[in-house]
Amino acid sequence: MNSDSVAMTELHGKMQEQETVCIFGTGDFGRSLGLRLLQSGYNVVYGSRDPKNSLLLPKGSKVMAHAAAACEAHVIFVAVQREHYGFLKSLASTLAGKVLIDVSNNLRRGLYPESNAEYLSSLVPGATVVKAFNTISAWALQSGGLDANRQVLICGDRADAKQQVVDIAQSLGFTVLDRGSLRAAAELEDLPLQLFPLWRLPFCIAFCLTAFIFFYALTRDVIYERVTNGKDNAFRIMISLANRVFPIVSLVMLALCYLPGALAGFLQLYNGTKYRRFPDWLDRWMLCRKQLGLLALAFGFLHVLYTLVIPIRYYVRYRINVYVISLVKDNKTYEFDNTVAWRHDAYISMGILGFGLFVLLGITSLPSVSNSLNWREFSFVQSKLGYMTLLLCTAHTFLYGWDKFLRTSSYRWWMPPSYMLSLVVPCVVLILKLILIMPCVDRKVTRIRQGWERQSKT
Ligand code: HEM
Repeated sequence: MNSDSVAMTELHGKMQEQETVCIFGTGDFGRSLGLRLLQSGYNVVYGSRDPKNSLLLPKGSKVMAHAAAACEAHVIFVAVQREHYGFLKSLASTLAGKVLIDVSNNLRRGLYPESNAEYLSSLVPGATVVKAFNTISAWALQSGGLDANRQVLICGDRADAKQQVVDIAQSLGFTVLDRGSLRAAAELEDLPLQLFPLWRLPFCIAFCLTAFIFFYALTRDVIYERVTNGKDNAFRIMISLANRVFPIVSLVMLALCYLPGALAGFLQLYNGTKYRRFPDWLDRWMLCRKQLGLLALAFGFLHVLYTLVIPIRYYVRYRINVYVISLVKDNKTYEFDNTVAWRHDAYISMGILGFGLFVLLGITSLPSVSNSLNWREFSFVQSKLGYMTLLLCTAHTFLYGWDKFLRTSSYRWWMPPSYMLSLVVPCVVLILKLILIMPCVDRKVTRIRQGWERQSKT
């Protein structure tokens, strides 16, 4: 027999001998897990308080009393609530030497002094407890990990026990991230209780910016007209104001994605090392750049949709008609202005190109796409194309505003036109970036990022 056929026989042998896994608990999670294990080639035996009541359990599994089920397997999933762990104490001798996988979560943070996994370990000291699968939902187990949640986080004190859990998770089609010893269990148990942690700051920024720009534009475009000219422009809130607020928020938030990176570059230059920690606020800001960018894209998308309806608006058609009729009445011609034509086409073109790149940035930030790019490709798209997007959208806004800032009529109650506000942060970011890419500065930053450190004067 040659070596290939020996290997094939061994492989065949391994596939033949199916490992048995035990699950304590016959709830939603236990049932989905059992089904998935069966589909992946494991034998499944459930431990239940009421073995006769097994109608909903997946076909092919066995169900027994806890003690009998525990004797059938070396690895046992404990899929019961922490409040019901009491019965495990009486099984301590049966469970000695086994691997217990704690999949539990709590309803609130800080409910107990120690994590559920550590509590389980104190109840059954002879067993090895591994915390795992608590961040995976019953739904993710049923849908075969096809949704985004494909990562199993694990922690435990013994490497051999963790390896057995890793093998099971991988054969179910999940990837595994080891988070260290059982002391990390409390952190893992907190994860499912968090509500969009990385989205909170971006949502907060988006909300505050939207409210500020809305009231600014409302004062300039509606309240000012009402107070000084007695004109009722309130109808403009629905489209004109919305189409002022959304693009401005989008542009400012896009710039806010790149501002922390530029600040970090300057901080590294100032510190003369990359090994000093950034301040917490900068760290938190850097972590939510993707969410900031996606929200900015959503606002940009709304702007594009609102822009599409401009030609069919009653107000716009009315103003065009009144203008044309006044020209006819006064027997005047509407002269073609080449500069205006250039400016309009240029700002719309910049907007379209900027939006196109913006969408590309959004697509490449999706995990399924970013995972297929190597680090260089990803940073090229997110950094170089990102700055290009910011440059195009800023140019779009500059060309849109053109010389409005020179006209005194644009300043209402000393308030400059809203587009000018939107340009402040993007211009700051672009200037900082321009300084950072100057050869003399770039060389220094690159050396620092490669590990060079400035000697401190002592
Ligand atoms: C203004 C078109 C993409 C930022 C405008 C206006 C138009 C327009 C027609 C004038 C609106 C008005 O008169 O009320 C477009 C088109 C785009 C696009 C066709 C792409 C398909 C973008 C993007 C951004 C952006 C991606 C930012 C990230 C702005 C800003 C203004 C503006 C800040 C000035 C708003 C104001 O102060 O009234 N755009 N745009 N645009 N656009 Fe865009």
